Amino acid sequence: MLKLGILGLGEGRSTMSAALASNKYELVKICDASEAVCKQRAKEFDFPDYTTSYQEMLDDAAIDVIAIYTPDHLHADHVKLALQHGKHVVCTKPFIDDLGRARELLEISRQSGKKVFVGQSSRFFEPYKRQRTDYTEGIIGELITVECHYNADHRWFLEKKWALEPSFKWLYGGLSHPVDFIRWYLPEIEEVMGYGMISANGKKAGLKNEDTMHFIFKATDGRVARVSGAYTGPIQPAYRESEMSCVLRGTEGASQADYHELRYAVTTNTGEEKLITWGDAKLKHFFRFEGQSHHAGEYQNYLEYFAESIADNTTAYPDLKEGIGTIALLQAMDRSLQTGVPVKINDILNEYQLLRSDFGL
Ligand SMILES: NC(=O)c1ccc[n+]([C@@H]2O[C@H](COP(=O)([O-])OP(=O)(O)OC[C@H]3O[C@@H](n4cnc5c(N)ncnc54)[C@H](O)[C@@H]3O)[C@@H](O)[C@H]2O)c1
Repeated sequence: MLKLGILGLGEGRSTMSAALASNKYELVKICDASEAVCKQRAKEFDFPDYTTSYQEMLDDAAIDVIAIYTPDHLHADHVKLALQHGKHVVCTKPFIDDLGRARELLEISRQSGKKVFVGQSSRFFEPYKRQRTDYTEGIIGELITVECHYNADHRWFLEKKWALEPSFKWLYGGLSHPVDFIRWYLPEIEEVMGYGMISANGKKAGLKNEDTMHFIFKATDGRVARVSGAYTGPIQPAYRESEMSCVLRGTEGASQADYHELRYAVTTNTGEEKLITWGDAKLKHFFRFEGQSHHAGEYQNYLEYFAESIADNTTAYPDLKEGIGTIALLQAMDRSLQTGVPVKINDILNEYQLLRSDFGL
C-alpha cells in the first residue's frame, strides 16, 4: 500500500474519499492552509491527522505520494517541493498555468527519479473510458473530427477569493477538461484559434478573464477539432445537453460520452446504434457527496491507475510531459484570445525553449 498525503482540501475532499475507499493507498496526512477546512475534513471523514504546514507533510518520511489540489497558480511550486522531497506526485488539472515553469519542473523530476501524474479526472469517468475503449478497438473507424464542450453554471465558484484574482482563468480551470480530450484523440495539434469574452454575469461578479469561449484546432495532418466552454450562466437540463461531452466522428461510426448522466451513445461500424447508461452502483462510485461540485470515483480510478504504474514501473498518463503539452495548447489558446488571430503551438513552445516532440505534440 502506498502512503498518501493530500494538499488542499476543497476538491482534495474527493481524493480523501477515494484514498480511504482504496486498498492501494493508506491515507497518512492531510494538509490545508486553513485550519477550519482541515477540521471540517477531519470531522467529516473521522480522520484526525491533519496539518496546516505543507513543510511538515513534505518532511514526513513515511509519505510516498503527495496529491495536490491547491489553487491553479500554486501547482508549480507545490509540485516542485514534493519532488525535491522525494515524493511521487499527483497534481490536479490544470497541471501548471505558466509554461515558464516547465523546464524547471522537467529537470527537477528527472533528478528526483519520481513519477508525476496529472489528475485529468474526466478521462477516468465511466462513459469516457468506454468511449476510449471503443475507439481503440476501431468501432468507429478512423477519426475524422472531435467536438468537446464543458459548460457549467459555476456562479457559486466565484465566491472563492482566488476565482476573482487576475491569475484565475476559466480557460485553465474549465477548458483544460475538453482540451485534454482533444489531446487524447488528436495529439499532434499544430495551431489554434478562438474567441472569448467575459459575460454580463461574469462582469457583474468581478471576473477578470473570459468565462465564455469557442476554439478551433488544426492538427499537423489537417484534421480539425473544436472546444467550447461557458461558465457563468444557466445551462440546459442534463438530459438535453450534458455539462461535459466528447463527440468523436469517425469514418464508420460516431460516439458521444456525457458527464453527469453517466451516458454514452455509439453508432458502430455495423450500423447498430447503442445507448448505454450505468446503474446505481456506478453512480454511487462517482457521486458520493451532496450536489456535484465534488465527486470521487474518477479520483479513485486514477489514483489506483497511478499506484499500478508505480508498482510496475510503467508510465501513467497524462504524465509530466503530456501535462505540459496540454498547458502549451492552453497558452496558445490564451494568446489567440488576446490577439484575435490563429496561434501556432510551435511559436509558444519556442518562446520557452521547449521542443514540440518532447511533449507528444
Ligand atoms: N475535476 C477535477 O479534476 C477538479 C474539480 C475541481 C477542482 N479541481 C482543481 O483543484 C484545485 C483546487 O480547486 P478547489 O475547487 O478545491 O478550490 P478551493 O478554493 O475550494 O480549495 C483550495 C484549498 O487549498 C487551500 N490552500 C490554498 N493555498 C494553500 C497553500 N499554500 N497550502 C495549503 N493549502 C492551501 C485553501 O485553503 C483551500 O481550502 C484547482 O486547481 C482546481 O482546478 C479539479
